[in-house]
Amino acid sequence: MRARSAPATSKPAQANARLLKLVAHMSQMSQDDAKRAAAARAADFVRSGMRLGLGTGSTAAFLVEILGNRVANGLQIVGVPTSEATRSQAQSLGIPLTTLEETPELDLTIDGADEFDGQLRLIKGGGGALLREKIVAAASKRMLVIADRSKQVETLGRFPLPVEVIPFGLEATRRAVARVLRENGCPGEIRLRMDRSGGHAFVTDGGHYILDCHAQSIAAPELLAQALNAIPGVVETGLFIGLADSIIVADAAGVEVIGAQEF
Ligand code: 5RP
Repeated sequence: MRARSAPATSKPAQANARLLKLVAHMSQMSQDDAKRAAAARAADFVRSGMRLGLGTGSTAAFLVEILGNRVANGLQIVGVPTSEATRSQAQSLGIPLTTLEETPELDLTIDGADEFDGQLRLIKGGGGALLREKIVAAASKRMLVIADRSKQVETLGRFPLPVEVIPFGLEATRRAVARVLRENGCPGEIRLRMDRSGGHAFVTDGGHYILDCHAQSIAAPELLAQALNAIPGVVETGLFIGLADSIIVADAAGVEVIGAQEF
């Protein structure tokens, strides 16, 4: 007697099983995987001879790592780091570095973001490097942002807006920032950023403090940025408006380039 073969699986059942496998794979994709995928796509835009702004944060760190490998294999670039952290990572990987004094014009800056909206407006500064990041981005012909999908929002403000301030006159500046937030329809708690120990104020690479403004919803980012920048003790805000040309955003479904597709 012939052994009974296992019942053949129907085509819809096979398709279902494939789908379940795919869903399982997709849910395994971590935020770090998405950050790495965005960074890898951005690295495709980097060509020999480019002068690059090198961003700060965990997503930018993936990019720097990828570029370090490519430099070891012959890619010729020079980079301006946007923080001391990025400087030391790039140096450790042998990426040639320059300064905006030596190289005041850059071809491309690639950096992360804490939030972005449909108009390529950003909130940056979660890592505390917003001032150098903005100076470097403004000195670049193009800015390419890399992010995982969790950073995409309808309206900026869910992420607390970092405002870099001079330590002198801190309380007076904080009150002025609070007034401007109220006047712009986004009042919210303002917290002085603390360092990891929690015992001291966090000090930026430029020697300043950061006020994290829990604005929740910023209806008019341009107006808010202008008003905050007009306060004497404010050095810069984490609102990056009119700087990003493209955003590479990754999630389990893949990698999407929003904005300009070519560099
Ligand atoms: C640092 C930044 C970073 O780009 C931003 O915080 C995103 O960081 P991450 O890639 O770690 O999510 O603005 O000042």
